[in-house]
Amino acid sequence: MEIVNDLAYFQPLRFLPEPESTQAYLRRAFGREDPASDMGCGEGQYTREIARRYPLASVLGTDVDAAAIAAASRAAGATRNVRFLVHDAREALPEAALRGTGLDVVVMWMVLLYLPDKQGVLHRLAAALKPGGVLLLGYIPDRALRLNHPSAAAIMAAGDEMVRRSGMVELETNLGEYLRAAGFVDATTARLRYLVGEGTSGGQRWFEYALDSLAAGRHFLVDVGRTMEGAEYDRHLERLASVPVLSIDGEVRFLVTVARRASTSPHLR
Ligand SMILES: C[S@@+](CC[C@H](N)C(=O)[O-])C[C@H]1O[C@@H](n2cnc3c(N)ncnc32)[C@H](O)[C@@H]1O
Repeated sequence: MEIVNDLAYFQPLRFLPEPESTQAYLRRAFGREDPASDMGCGEGQYTREIARRYPLASVLGTDVDAAAIAAASRAAGATRNVRFLVHDAREALPEAALRGTGLDVVVMWMVLLYLPDKQGVLHRLAAALKPGGVLLLGYIPDRALRLNHPSAAAIMAAGDEMVRRSGMVELETNLGEYLRAAGFVDATTARLRYLVGEGTSGGQRWFEYALDSLAAGRHFLVDVGRTMEGAEYDRHLERLASVPVLSIDGEVRFLVTVARRASTSPHLR
């Protein structure tokens, strides 16, 4: 399914319309006092949003970064149905977090991409879910950004090289197989595309997003991967930032996959 420029869709909880059984399951799962988890939650923006939209759900935000979890806890204040835990997604969740039966829903938004052992992590997520439980993954394709400018092309070529070396490639191609191997079924993926440029506020906003993303990638490419000199990177960014938005054309892409742990799969824990 492909969705273009629907800004409301750019939210992890705007669940996919297909298959209907999955959507109905999510409504039911979040509508009861059943446990859900937002893994790799960072400062917990989506964890809080799940708790706000589904007040009956009990949501556990986890992240390996203790400072992020401290900030997430502060931001959530005394919200009744949210808790946070420092936890590495490569490890099993503690039994107490699974409440005996396992989780109804696991959300993992922009995290799996960065973890080298994706199969191992997906097995952990399947083990944390109860049979029939739902996994929602947000991630990006290998080519998440396209901009018709030579400076963008130069930075992205350096980025491609870095991504290839770090093994972060081809999640889009391989995810289905990883999910099946981990015991998931009914996987559906929405491809979200947002157009950059144009005179619309959306087009301008996504141009700013693209510039921010390229600026955020500087450390990774220049200091970690050394696939481009810092001065050259800065020159390209400056050139790009000075281009009038109306002469820019491009798009930003995201992927959202929903799958269920097979009801009949053996107990994985
Ligand atoms: C790009 S951020 C996404 C944060 C949040 N999900 C969001 O979309 O706003 C990636 C997050 O993954 C976390 N992370 C990285 N490796 C992890 C691991 N092994 N276990 C749990 N969290 C991890 C990082 O600390 C960071 O907060």
